[in-house]
Amino acid sequence: MSSIVSIKDLSKTYNSGFEALKNINLDIKKGEILALLGPNGAGKTTLISTICGIVSPTSGTVTVDGSDIITDFRKTRQMIGLVPQELTLGAFEQVFQTVSFSRGLFGCKQDDDYINQLLKDLSLDDKKDIEVRALSGGMKRRVLIAKALSHEPQILFLDEPTAGVDVELRKDMWKIVRQLQDKGVTIILTTHYIEEAEEIAERVGVINNGELLVVEKKELLMENFGKKQLVIELREAAKEIPHTLHKHNVELTDDGLNISYTYDTTNEGSNIQEVLKEVSDSELLLKDIKINQSSLEDIFVDLVKLK
Ligand SMILES: Nc1ncnc2c1ncn2[C@@H]1O[C@H](COP(=O)(O)OP(=O)(O)O)[C@@H](O)[C@H]1O
Ligand SMILES: [Mg+2]
Repeated sequence: MSSIVSIKDLSKTYNSGFEALKNINLDIKKGEILALLGPNGAGKTTLISTICGIVSPTSGTVTVDGSDIITDFRKTRQMIGLVPQELTLGAFEQVFQTVSFSRGLFGCKQDDDYINQLLKDLSLDDKKDIEVRALSGGMKRRVLIAKALSHEPQILFLDEPTAGVDVELRKDMWKIVRQLQDKGVTIILTTHYIEEAEEIAERVGVINNGELLVVEKKELLMENFGKKQLVIELREAAKEIPHTLHKHNVELTDDGLNISYTYDTTNEGSNIQEVLKEVSDSELLLKDIKINQSSLEDIFVDLVKLK
């Protein structure tokens, strides 16, 4: 897949002197769903605001479909739809009107059929003539999504799309995201919810303190950074671990009923077989065995803690 957004050595220091982005390098592939995962204050909004031309970079470059976001601002911005983190809507405009107006702002020809379909997809068709101020928070968010999609962008940024959002909207949102992907739209979402990244993204970038720590296919991230744990349940409590097992990374639970062996998923030399053999050769009576794998959450916590 070719990249549609290319970020090179991007840094941002705000006027306050705060370094919000530190030398970010990232290629976003055409048609992918990428999640930027990071705690509050990590720099996620700064990063996508920079790509959208709302925040100016201190150094480095960003190109969208080969065009520079600064020298070719109009062209690159036209390709992008942004659903901002904060609700930013004029209060007195009506739903249809504000969405259709957004389309015009990007220089697209008026297309009432397209806007009507969009409002339908977002369950806003019965709210068309209502003033935005009369809508609930969830409905306002739907209007923001409609505005972001009004000019049929090829790239969609969703900044913390489901923070404080009800289940219904969340479901609709993922449905729309998948439909857009089928049409070839590239989708980038920021989130501090691990489940969100786990649920929808193909690639996950972990960002913390303005640094992009890793960007990897979700499965690879799990494989490369994950750990597995073999848990051996015993019939009777053991007082101590047999000395033959001391050379492995094994632990006995306080109640003496479980022996756990933790190993790296990439480590081909994991000694499961040996551990199991030594347990069965010992006096211990084996009741059951199971394997736990670290979740994306464990990996995320580990990665962020390392820094
Ligand atoms: N306009 C600004 N001036 C100074 N500091 C800012 C500004 N905007 C954001 N920051 C700081 O930059 C850091 C990253 O913010 P942000 O990109 O919003 O993070 P995130 O979206 O990951 O929560 C935060 O510490 C925030 O306080
Ligand atoms: Mg943010």
